[in-house]
Amino acid sequence: MLNQHDKVTMKPKKNIALAALKANRGKYISGRKVRLRQKKLTDVRNDYNWQSDPELARLDAAPVLKASFPVYLMDFVEIIHKPERNRYPLAIETLQGKHIGNCTCYDIDESKNEAQVGIMIGDRDYWDKGYGVDTITTLVDHIFLSTLLNRVYLKTLDWNLRAQKCFRNCGFIRYATVTRNGHNFLFMEIKREQWLKNRKKS
Ligand SMILES: CC(C)(COP(=O)(O)OP(=O)(O)OC[C@H]1O[C@@H](n2cnc3c(N)ncnc32)[C@H](O)[C@@H]1OP(=O)(O)O)[C@@H](O)C(=O)NCCC(=O)NCCS
Repeated sequence: MLNQHDKVTMKPKKNIALAALKANRGKYISGRKVRLRQKKLTDVRNDYNWQSDPELARLDAAPVLKASFPVYLMDFVEIIHKPERNRYPLAIETLQGKHIGNCTCYDIDESKNEAQVGIMIGDRDYWDKGYGVDTITTLVDHIFLSTLLNRVYLKTLDWNLRAQKCFRNCGFIRYATVTRNGHNFLFMEIKREQWLKNRKKS
């Protein structure tokens, strides 16, 4: 059993997968239609507008942001300089450098060899044009190519058919449904073995 002294001096276990994902920090992770990059301060206006948008919040089962822009900006600056633990947030840009949304790898669990991903294309002009498929494919490739993780999963609302089709097109298959806070979520996953088979075919 730990005594008080042990608790103070014990270092948190190093998250090797997260460190590997971040190893190319400062460089683009490029796909066919998008490139993923580290978040930067100039993303703040778009992120504020997207998080304050009721339709985007509903599609993501998230609360609508109510904070004022100055308050949001202060939090944003803090997060940019001191990223949250066990999260790897990225901005989604077109190949021409337009910021159209965000994606994240989070809940990295090295004991289970798995991680969760999320995506939000905030700019509606870029819906239904293959940007979601390319983002998820690029992110999943980056995860499997730079870490030893074996499974990537995500969740989406059971009525969000566009998101489900997008994820199916990336090779994800459904494996569970869960009800949380009155919302029905569908969980989908892709395992390294299947990802490898899909890559050989394409
Ligand atoms: C969900 C999201 C990531 C998908 O990205 P996208 O770039 O719009 O999607 P893509 O064009 O890559 O793929 C969408 C697929 O769904 C299909 N689709 C669109 N609307 C559909 C619907 N109502 N029912 C079924 N399929 C639909 C498209 O035809 C396309 O499939 P196809 O290429 O086989 O024809 C993006 O639209 C988004 O972020 N939306 C807003 C927020 C949101 O939904 N968040 C929840 C994410 S869990």
